[in-house]
Amino acid sequence: MIDDLQSIFVTEQEIRERVEVLGKEISEAYADIDELTVIAVINGAVLFTADLIRHIDIPIRLDCMRVSSYRNDMSPVQEPEIIDMLRLDLEGSHILVIDDILDTGHTCMRVINEIKKLNPASVKFGVLLEKEGRREVEVGADFVGFSIPDEFVVGYGLDFAEQYRQLPCIGVLKPELQNPPTYI
Ligand code: IMP
Ligand code: MG
Repeated sequence: MIDDLQSIFVTEQEIRERVEVLGKEISEAYADIDELTVIAVINGAVLFTADLIRHIDIPIRLDCMRVSSYRNDMSPVQEPEIIDMLRLDLEGSHILVIDDILDTGHTCMRVINEIKKLNPASVKFGVLLEKEGRREVEVGADFVGFSIPDEFVVGYGLDFAEQYRQLPCIGVLKPELQNPPTYI
């Protein structure tokens, strides 16, 4: 499966080290609060969130929000759809939304706007990856793992047509695999 990559942008070890540092940064940023509510945007943020929260040493609650950002396999839509909403009550809570990647920014914008309607005490956004020069709306992340060039990447939660999420590193697929043949 790793042979399907043409290049690796972030190795397994780099991810492990950075995620640990990010966990410490988040713990310090929220050192004065009683409890943090972490919201994972699934499916993409599942692996990152699972590893990250093990390095956060303040009390947390965890919930998930399922958002669909794609019209087809590789081009994001302008208006992401919230398919499954949260279960926890967010009123008065400190919220940290976690996503896999900040690309055009539409997903971040949509999720944050939805969460703000629920009267939280604060909302911040953390991402594993940020793509340079791709923003279409004015949003930024408060915590960023890595900035990467404008290429479609897979691995560590990120998929191409739901495949490759389990790769331990992050890289670019070989071009011939980015357009799978249609079987009849
Ligand atoms: P945005 O709304 O354009 O910021 O897109 C964010 C969502 O698009 C992410 O949560 C990912 O699910 C997906 N996405 C953006 N770029 C990539 C990529 O390079 N590989 C896989 N998924 C991506
Ligand atoms: Mg996603």
